[in-house]
Amino acid sequence: MTKIQKSEESYIKNIFESISKDYDLMNDLITFKYHSKWKKEIAMIAKEDNPKVILDIATGTGDIAINLSKLKDSQIIGVDISEKMLDVAGDKIRKMNITNITLELSKAEKLKYKNNFFDLISIGYGVRNFEDLINGLKESYRVLKKNGKLIILETSVPNNFLIKYLYLLFTSIYVPLISFIFTKNIKAYNYLLDSTKEFPHEKEFKKILGSVGFKNIASKKKFFGISTIYILTK
Ligand SMILES: C[S@@+](CC[C@H](N)C(=O)[O-])C[C@H]1O[C@@H](n2cnc3c(N)ncnc32)[C@H](O)[C@@H]1O
Repeated sequence: MTKIQKSEESYIKNIFESISKDYDLMNDLITFKYHSKWKKEIAMIAKEDNPKVILDIATGTGDIAINLSKLKDSQIIGVDISEKMLDVAGDKIRKMNITNITLELSKAEKLKYKNNFFDLISIGYGVRNFEDLINGLKESYRVLKKNGKLIILETSVPNNFLIKYLYLLFTSIYVPLISFIFTKNIKAYNYLLDSTKEFPHEKEFKKILGSVGFKNIASKKKFFGISTIYILTK
């Protein structure tokens, strides 16, 4: 496993620029489309609070923003560091005639919005890519309204010994194979796998979230913990 050098700012951006066209297909193949279900669940959780002004950080190809756009009277801003990922999101949004999503180039660690601005923030499969995890989370905290929710969806390596073994076997054979067949870009998908292995486990990540100031931190494991939804408030 290669240690990821996140200090090289453009490294992560370039990875996503290089996979923007096949990101959706690969996501479907890697998760057997389960990611769509989990992204819908984010919108269901969000709906409980009836949020109007929403920020989707690391919006990528826009799936979560699109799900959130169905909430009544919502206005979504989707931000990302990759122009090409946003281009794909923009095409999808236009094709679907969605008018309440705005896409902006911006990094999670330096958001241009005012303090206490958003009713809700979502981050799907983004936090593990942040160049600076703590500062990225601090910025989310800053721009979120008091009692506003932050919902994070992130991958993890399952804890259970047997499931972990099967997961590692699956990811080390299946993912490189399909990434070669469909994209010829094994390097990028190896990065995505390595970043999952390096990301803090559920317990540790919750501690980090608490240290930033978030409260009521809850988590829902998905499919034995290959993904987790974190729900927290400011
Ligand atoms: C794995 S994709 C997730 C896309 C989408 N949210 C989803 O759930 O499918 C990660 C996205 O995070 C973006 N990203 C990485 N680091 C970022 C940062 N520091 N600030 C904003 N976006 C970032 C990448 O460009 C990429 O589009």
